[in-house]
Amino acid sequence: MNRPGSPQAEGEVITILLVDDIPEARENIKKLLAFEPDLRVVGSVGTGREGVAMAKELKPNIIIMDINMPDMDGIQATSLITESVPTAAVIMMSVQNDPDYLRRAMLAGARNFLTKPISPDELYNTIRTVYAQHKVVAQRFRDTPVVENVRSVVQAEGTENRSGHVIVVYSPQGGVGVTTIATNVASALMKEGVRVLLVDSDLQFGDVGVLLNIQSQSTMVDLVDNIHDLDTELFDSIVFTHDSGLKVLMGPARPEFAEVIEQDNPTAVAQMLEKISGNYDFIVVDTSHALDETVLSLFDLAAKIVLVGMPTLACVKNMRFVLDLFDQLNYAPDKTMLVLNRVPDDRNRQKFLIPTEKIARFLKRPIELEIPADEMTALEAMSKGVPIVARRDKSRSPIKELMGLADMLHTRLEGAQEEELAESPADKAKQRKPGLGLRLGKA
Ligand SMILES: Nc1ncnc2c1ncn2[C@@H]1O[C@H](COP(=O)(O)OP(=O)(O)OP(=O)(O)O)[C@@H](O)[C@H]1O
Ligand SMILES: [Mg+2]
Repeated sequence: MNRPGSPQAEGEVITILLVDDIPEARENIKKLLAFEPDLRVVGSVGTGREGVAMAKELKPNIIIMDINMPDMDGIQATSLITESVPTAAVIMMSVQNDPDYLRRAMLAGARNFLTKPISPDELYNTIRTVYAQHKVVAQRFRDTPVVENVRSVVQAEGTENRSGHVIVVYSPQGGVGVTTIATNVASALMKEGVRVLLVDSDLQFGDVGVLLNIQSQSTMVDLVDNIHDLDTELFDSIVFTHDSGLKVLMGPARPEFAEVIEQDNPTAVAQMLEKISGNYDFIVVDTSHALDETVLSLFDLAAKIVLVGMPTLACVKNMRFVLDLFDQLNYAPDKTMLVLNRVPDDRNRQKFLIPTEKIARFLKRPIELEIPADEMTALEAMSKGVPIVARRDKSRSPIKELMGLADMLHTRLEGAQEEELAESPADKAKQRKPGLGLRLGKA
């Protein structure tokens, strides 16, 4: 049956697993759901650990998970479920709106929230909406048999054979939001259960660690000496795993440590990433604004370059310079995506800044996304060490634009790969660009 606002098709039933340590709480939800013929409770358990086991066994469409539980809490359970049962979408439940908890849950892969006490309408609407949103993702995984087993076997051999799309975020100008965008795009890409690596390649003054509240002793500097026989095991021992599951390769801990890369082997980062790219679906690279050999080798390696600017004359002029360079390097025009960040509201903008159409004309390229300025949100995210996209109000700017950018990149890169698979080897050879092999081969 199809009701107003109900996204599922005629006769489609949404299966639901309840995970809450309080039996009466589970019973109450069960009673509410019993009124709705399209919502069916298929399991009900009292700990996070049981929740993970039942999720694997029952493969429900939706899991309603309490955040606070003894044994294994809802966040950890969600993280495990997102990895091992990607067809299921988790809705997290908590007693009060604790923003820190909720953000962590979102980063662990929860798709939405319910605050207790839960009203029937809120419950029904949230389940149906999350089901509809997750349908495409679930479909992608549905036909992949026993994802977890396959993964552990392949991981043991160190060849996961993932897509390894490298996304380099760059601006010729400092302070325009490159690190903010890289961190948020990486976080947003990860939510769909894919494996994402964030790399801090701003070698001297990298601040990915600050944005994600990470303190790690291990950095890419530890890999430089072993670059020629870099294997998955060594790489994994250096990479930091954030609470959210995001993997992070930290940059040098102090500016002077950057020398072993910048002076001795400037293409080291690109070489590392090229070697381990098959272990990740997406690798997002934060860069410094210096246009040096390190960043050039990363451009070569990239499947997409997100070129970030602000609508100021100095910045637009430098973007033009970079785009001209990309033309000289024979990069395909669609390798680069132009994004304007920190765009103030129109009234202020007309007075002091260049209109977007003018910028697009000058750069001879469309501006694919404008991310509005929101000082408070950016500052708060930075001071708390939590990415902007982890906020709950997804429809608000600049959260929705940052999520949108991740979606755009996901669609384009995965779409391009499907097309590529369909192409003949001769077609592919014709399109191959000269840059990468030459530059990396030189190192
Ligand atoms: N959309 C936005 N609205 C308002 N402030 C923003 C926005 N995006 C980023 N910021 C703020 O701009 C400042 C610079 O951001 P960020 O560090 O991400 O830029 P960057 O290009 O990496 O800078 P750097 O050159 O220092 O590496 C930070 O204070 C950040 O909070
Ligand atoms: Mg930065």
